[in-house]
Amino acid sequence: MSYTVTIRDSKTGKEIECPVIEGTYGAPVIDTKQLYNELGMFTFDPGFMTTAACKSAITYLDGEQGILLHRGYPIEQLAENSNYLEVCYLLLYGELPTKAQFQDFRDDLNKRNLVHEHLERFYTGYRYDAHPMSILIGITGALSSYYHEALDINDPEDRELTAKRVIAKMPILAAHCYKHAMGHPFVYSRDDLGYVENFLNMMFSLPNRPYIPNRTAVRALDLLLILHADHEQNASTSTVRLSGSAEANPFACIAAGIVTLWGRAHGGANEAVLRMLGEIEDPKNIPTFIKRAKDKDDPFRLMGFGHRVYKNYDPRAKIIRKVCHDLLEEVDTVDQPLFDIAMQLEDIALKDEYFIERKLYPNVDFYSGIILKALGIPTAMYTVMFALARSAGWISQWLEMMEDPDFRIGRPRQLYIGKQTRDYVPMSRRKRR
Ligand code: SDX
Repeated sequence: MSYTVTIRDSKTGKEIECPVIEGTYGAPVIDTKQLYNELGMFTFDPGFMTTAACKSAITYLDGEQGILLHRGYPIEQLAENSNYLEVCYLLLYGELPTKAQFQDFRDDLNKRNLVHEHLERFYTGYRYDAHPMSILIGITGALSSYYHEALDINDPEDRELTAKRVIAKMPILAAHCYKHAMGHPFVYSRDDLGYVENFLNMMFSLPNRPYIPNRTAVRALDLLLILHADHEQNASTSTVRLSGSAEANPFACIAAGIVTLWGRAHGGANEAVLRMLGEIEDPKNIPTFIKRAKDKDDPFRLMGFGHRVYKNYDPRAKIIRKVCHDLLEEVDTVDQPLFDIAMQLEDIALKDEYFIERKLYPNVDFYSGIILKALGIPTAMYTVMFALARSAGWISQWLEMMEDPDFRIGRPRQLYIGKQTRDYVPMSRRKRR
């Protein structure tokens, strides 16, 4: 059933009927394309709080109900039954793969799980203590200087090949960031290992001793990657889409997504949570930090709390919280105190009126850092792990946009509040302001 929303300009009395478009789930959208032509006006929505920038069939989330679906499958069921590589296939192709399709997908990725030897030289330009996200941005951007034989973004085959190259090469680039920081030799990707085992091997294996990843660690990391794979039109995905809408090189678009994800209000929060828990140090200090989080004059925010969309518990945080419990019981780690502080902080915050009335719940970043720490992954690498997982979502969203018949360059407008037109004043006649 099609219907419209009437927008009336009370100054002129002019009215326009804007079509309303309904999706499978979620809020319908008002098509305001005609607003400027008919009323000479733009919509005004800083931070895109209520703006649908595109149509998408990849992910659906309901912030009130705490629902997250990937291609219609609830995140809880994917977390329980799937694996990250299968979720990559699902995000890219829209369906769960048959056994043969999954094997072909893996074989295809294995054909692309090396990077040009020259790329290794880019790492040497970074100090050993450079933040790994600064390295990952540069190296991923450098990927756009390769593969020119298959970068016709109007060619569906080139686009699919690029998507597979991103998924196959991101774990290599990410693991090399860690090896560079440790001063250890880079480890090649191996075809005989699963996606997560291969990544952990590239991270932690050393020439002088065998490396066998802990099964619990493999499962925990695979789950973490699933939970971070895609999340609708978040800030970094929107950056990838906007860059891609200008027909930029897709590897450069992924690098742009990594740049945005690094912000501590976004993917940088997992690292910020661990640093905050370390700063709290003792549960007796929690009330001081809660007080600071509520103080408008204090820039401190409770990292890992709040979300632009989830005004209920982030379903991913619920899943991660349980894995934290299981992992910390299984893996001998010194991180139990950190986890205890996190649990007590969560408990106190969720009873505090300030957090309740603002619907500030733990988000995916609140517990993920604790799992990564328990897996022996250094804090500075946490957002790299987020970028690794989200690269599948970013490239899937890029593909969907490039295939959209409504594809066009993104170009938001503004409300101009600057000076009125004025004439140039020669330097000799200017007065100090
Ligand atoms: C991710 O978009 C996505 O999907 C992102 C993500 C994904 O998978 O891609 O889910 C991943 O980025 C999760 C979010 C990780 N970030 C953090 O944990 C950083 C801490 N959180 C805040 O920075 C904040 O909650 C945001 C940025 C996440 C959301 O910001 P909003 O929606 O713009 O919220 P807001 O700033 O309008 O806050 C509303 C109120 C304000 O108080 P009042 O002005 O109403 O009095 O809530 C307060 C804020 O001051 N508030 C917080 C708070 N978050 C919001 N107060 C203390 N601590 C916080 N964490």
